[in-house]
Amino acid sequence: MTGFAAIILAAGKGTRMKSALPKVLHEIAGRPMLGHAMAVADEAGAAEVLLVTAPDQDAVRAYADGSNNEAIATTHCIQEQQLGTGDAVRAAFGATDKHARFVVMFGDTPLMRPEVLAALANHDADVTVLAFEPDDAAAYGRVVLDGETPTAIVEYKDADAATRAVTLCNGGAMGLSREALAKYLPQLSNDNAQGEFYLPDMVTLAHQDGATTALVMANPEDTMGVDSRAGQAKAEALMQARLRRKLLEAGVGMQDPDSVFLSFDTEIAEDVTLEPHVKINGGVVIGKGTVIKAFTHLEGVSIGQHVQIGPYARLRPGTRVGDAAKIGNFVETKKADIGKGAKVSHLSYIGDAELGMDVNIGAGTITCNYDGYNKHLTKIGDGAFIGSNSSLIAPVTIGKGAYLGSSSAVSKDVPDDALVVTRAPEREIKGWGRKFRARNEKKET
Ligand code: UD1
Repeated sequence: MTGFAAIILAAGKGTRMKSALPKVLHEIAGRPMLGHAMAVADEAGAAEVLLVTAPDQDAVRAYADGSNNEAIATTHCIQEQQLGTGDAVRAAFGATDKHARFVVMFGDTPLMRPEVLAALANHDADVTVLAFEPDDAAAYGRVVLDGETPTAIVEYKDADAATRAVTLCNGGAMGLSREALAKYLPQLSNDNAQGEFYLPDMVTLAHQDGATTALVMANPEDTMGVDSRAGQAKAEALMQARLRRKLLEAGVGMQDPDSVFLSFDTEIAEDVTLEPHVKINGGVVIGKGTVIKAFTHLEGVSIGQHVQIGPYARLRPGTRVGDAAKIGNFVETKKADIGKGAKVSHLSYIGDAELGMDVNIGAGTITCNYDGYNKHLTKIGDGAFIGSNSSLIAPVTIGKGAYLGSSSAVSKDVPDDALVVTRAPEREIKGWGRKFRARNEKKET
């Protein structure tokens, strides 16, 4: 039998989210909670995920099968009715005979760390409980100990006053041997306050039968379940704090870390500075020595070394920025290759474009990439100079070292080193203003 399997419970309705989107597909740091759970299972060394969903949760199963999550093998297990966490594990256990050990985790605990899950999964006890000491034990299940050995978990609604006074709580996740599951799952009963089959009852059954039980301690973050929008916001804040801490330790400078928002997959090299109010969505990689100035928004972009971006820039998916380039204020880019040392300093839209090395784009330049049906490419050769307020009507190619006069609207290719100016010739009418005013002032009297 190989490795361990992670049973992820995700069949709950999540009605308190008040959303058409299933709860586990709500995002934390740009990734659905289920994606976090699957990634943690993968990093902890699980050989397979057994995902427990309700019959109507096609969207959850589609996400797990999709390309947006970790490469871990997933087996779908349908729990016909939500009869409790023990019943949900029953729905999964029959699905595989390959594994000697199992870890049960919830799909709505996005802050679980791989090392905590691995400690549960790899423990050699038959049943290993994940316990924590919250500031407020609230309605968590209470862990009853004999010395250091868990003998029972009592759900809050079933607990008497003395048990409710216990401060050690059940975190929900659990490590289990195949033998324990095979023997005790069929013995679970729903004769309790909630009429549910409780997974925590595995502890009592194992202990009473002389099997081994053990404890792994977690911090409250690891076990924090999200079941409301407020809970989601709290988990987001904790995850952001974690991501920022990791970058600060890796040599990324931030004047006001609390105002910088990161994605779960953000990759930033050392000596990068993130000024206040920078928002980074998925798929962003930033090279050494680059400065991202205030109020910049990045998504799906790869930025080289010693680049300056912003303030107030918006770089959209498919943008690649070469080393030592500069993207200034109020510039939007999309599917744009910006060459080494190129400058797009002010107020521009550069979309579906390839800019060579040291290209200079004047203020107000726009690539007109869309004709209402199709997107077209603009190519600008090395060292070309685009005068301010120009319109590049794609498809169009501007040659290397070419010059475009200010305010040109170009729809034909420009050869290397040529100068093209398309604006109308300037006219001068001497004294026109004086005559104009005299005419109008006369009318008024
Ligand atoms: C559970 C524990 C409690 C512990 C707490 C920690 C039980 C009975 N209680 O309570 O001791 O302190 O976690 O947060 O386990 N689910 C299913 N199918 C079901 C029922 C639940 O898939 O039939 C899934 C839910 O989607 C959810 C998870 O299991 O992700 C936990 O279920 P929930 O009912 O929220 O348990 P808690 O009340 O949190």
